[in-house]
Amino acid sequence: MDSTFSTESTINQTFAEDVRQGLTSDPKFLLSRYFYDAAGDKLFQKIMELPEYYLTGCEFEILQTHWSSILRQMDGLPFDLVELGAGDGLKTRILIRQFLAQKADFHYLPIDISGSVLAHLRNVLNEKWPELPVTPVEGEYFSALHEIDRLSDRRKLVLFLGSNIGNMDQERAAGFLQKLRDRLHPDDLLLVGFDLKKDPEVILAAYNDSQGVTRDFNLNLLRRINRELGADFDLSAFRHWPVYNPLSGDTKSYLVSEKEQTVRIKALELEVPFRKWESIDMELSKKYDRPEIEWLAEHAGFEVENWFFDEKQYFADVLFRAI
Ligand code: AVJ
Repeated sequence: MDSTFSTESTINQTFAEDVRQGLTSDPKFLLSRYFYDAAGDKLFQKIMELPEYYLTGCEFEILQTHWSSILRQMDGLPFDLVELGAGDGLKTRILIRQFLAQKADFHYLPIDISGSVLAHLRNVLNEKWPELPVTPVEGEYFSALHEIDRLSDRRKLVLFLGSNIGNMDQERAAGFLQKLRDRLHPDDLLLVGFDLKKDPEVILAAYNDSQGVTRDFNLNLLRRINRELGADFDLSAFRHWPVYNPLSGDTKSYLVSEKEQTVRIKALELEVPFRKWESIDMELSKKYDRPEIEWLAEHAGFEVENWFFDEKQYFADVLFRAI
């Protein structure tokens, strides 16, 4: 039986065109959403285990400490626990375990663009908690939320964890949350994970780890372009260069060409010239402060219901209520 709901996906067709657009732009860029092929997923798993990458541990601590306050917001009524970009669902399992122990009446609906990720997640959850109804929804977030709205009229608690919102600049994040709000009903809740502004040293180290895993994570996208689009990027000729701007909170990572070189991309029939020290803009991981988060909520049609922090106040899971 396959009860995974699927919304249309054009992800594969656009990879080549997005690479073309990025590498023919000035300045050059690549989209960090393409980091996550099978090898990229594994590297991100390794990143989450790095001593420098504090984000994952902080969010674990928050959920472990504050799950009961989150559950209390559901007023003992049935609800749908919806997760955007479920991945391995490891953090969510903390909530699921506690919610089930409290005999909460809820369904779990993970949304992801990867069908294989969802199938795996469902198997793991079914094995562990056969009593939990799991309905994976494959596809892009907004069409998936639309689908869920047709399937169920329960109140929603939507999870958008892990500082994934940091990959958008603040304006795009506001637009994203606004669109999300359009798919929700008043009093639905949204729990968003924000990485916070803090000691710049701590932030930079998280994106410049001593084992070089983050470097490899960035270079893996060049490897992916080599493999999938028949390109000849020389990975040893690009340097991983993360920077943190404490004013804007932008953590950016670049790959810097250490020499003048030309990369050929067969599938695009494209030659990409690099000047010596020319860079590719690879990723944004924006760090927030409280006023910025309040602005986002207000701008998108939510009110901040509750703030949950880890002990060090490095990270915040913020509960937004749709108004
Ligand atoms: C998964 C997007 C939250 O930006 O911190 C980790 C990805 N990039 N190390 C982040 C990432 C480099 C991560 N997010």
